[in-house]
Amino acid sequence: MTARSSLTVVLAAGEGTRMRSATPKVLHPVAGESLLAHVLAAVPKGAEAALAVVVGPDQAAVVQEAKRARPEVQTFVQHERLGTAHAVLAAREAIARGADDLLVAFGDTPLISAQTFARLRAALTDGAALAVLGFRAVDPTGYGRLLVEGNRPVAIREHAEASTAERAINLCNAGVMAFDGARALEIIESIGNANSRREYYLTDAVGIVRDLGLEAVVIETSEDEVRGINTKAQLAEAEQVMQARLRQAALDAGVTMIAPETVYLAADTTFGKDVTIEPFVVIGPGVSIADGAVIHSFSHIVQSSIGKQALVGPFARLRPGTSLGERVRIGNFVETKASVLDAGVKANHLSYIGNTHIGANSNIGAGAITCNYDGFGKYTTEIGEGAFVGTNSSLVAPVKIGKGAYIGSGSVITRDVPDDAMAMERTAQTIREGGAARYREAKTGGKKPTNG
Ligand code: UD1
Ligand code: MG
Repeated sequence: MTARSSLTVVLAAGEGTRMRSATPKVLHPVAGESLLAHVLAAVPKGAEAALAVVVGPDQAAVVQEAKRARPEVQTFVQHERLGTAHAVLAAREAIARGADDLLVAFGDTPLISAQTFARLRAALTDGAALAVLGFRAVDPTGYGRLLVEGNRPVAIREHAEASTAERAINLCNAGVMAFDGARALEIIESIGNANSRREYYLTDAVGIVRDLGLEAVVIETSEDEVRGINTKAQLAEAEQVMQARLRQAALDAGVTMIAPETVYLAADTTFGKDVTIEPFVVIGPGVSIADGAVIHSFSHIVQSSIGKQALVGPFARLRPGTSLGERVRIGNFVETKASVLDAGVKANHLSYIGNTHIGANSNIGAGAITCNYDGFGKYTTEIGEGAFVGTNSSLVAPVKIGKGAYIGSGSVITRDVPDDAMAMERTAQTIREGGAARYREAKTGGKKPTNG
């Protein structure tokens, strides 16, 4: 059987006004990815699946994000915000190309799954001209109500137009719909705006399909999957739902989490076998954690790869571009950025490692710092295999520390150190015998010291 072709139109026009934000609504993140990217990840993909995103005027950032998430996307501008049916018709050119299935999704429902789109499309294969996604709302206020006869939808009544009796209905329209591509334009173009808001409601498609004597069906899903985000509070609720899903998936994949409810994951976090994540860890986008690694409590990790059996934290901060080899140990209050640490490197305490490559099995002492920035540019540090960087050293980049080299504690290293050399940069220590006793005598005149 050849696959049915599809076109998905994602409606994403609108500002962040109700979010009280300068950022457009669909660019707000859930689990490290924009709302729009979540939706675009769930809609059909592949050779037979075309994709269109409808944006408002002056929404270059939304266009850019759509293209980042799905490079093949075609974007359309809805110049005036006249309703969801009007928004769909902004993509008329793409719809007119005539896919078998036309899917409409909203850019602000990030929890929607690929399976749900597949279920809607299956209803079209079974002969429906329209499949509407419905859900039972705990509080249906604001949603369009699905009016049904038996299990067939008769109409969708927007909250503003609904009677008191209709407002008591808790079966609601999620917004996602699937149309038979052959009839879609005819149906959507016949939608008018004779309602209280003078908007072209896509939901009127249900009545039109019925009047045409075609079949419409409702496919039900859970409220959690179709939460629409209009406010920051709803954004936080969606984050909770998404985190619960990601934690469950991580546990199912064999990750050990002592207190999963305190661990924050990103949608793209990947895990090897036997990974342990202790309580209160925050993982941002672009993180991979290999077999046997342990992330101790209170660590914060973004765009980093963590090698097999590596130990990170507690209180470690791995910033973008960190790559840790096997058995690397990053201890408390160590920060890394744009750095590659080869197998067996140890940086156990109080360090900053930026724009640095560290060869295998080197030891970075407590408080050792790479000085990678002079206020103007960033410079790199190269540390050879098996080197020892003493406590509280400053490595002023650009600088190279040779293999097996040894840096004495407290040194400020500004010149390259050859392989197996010892570098020391401090003034010679002085000893004055009895000096402390004489100092006390001078200060107290022989009285007993008070000790502060
Ligand atoms: C819509 C549905 C309602 C459903 C609810 C589910 C209609 C008329 N109503 O209502 O039945 O219960 O979603 O959350 O469809 N958009 C545009 N251009 C426009 C208008 C909207 O692109 O002119 C986009 C928005 O960015 C948003 C989506 O369409 O992503 C839905 O619009 P919104 O205004 O949130 O519709 P609701 O009133 O929530
Ligand atoms: Mg809405």
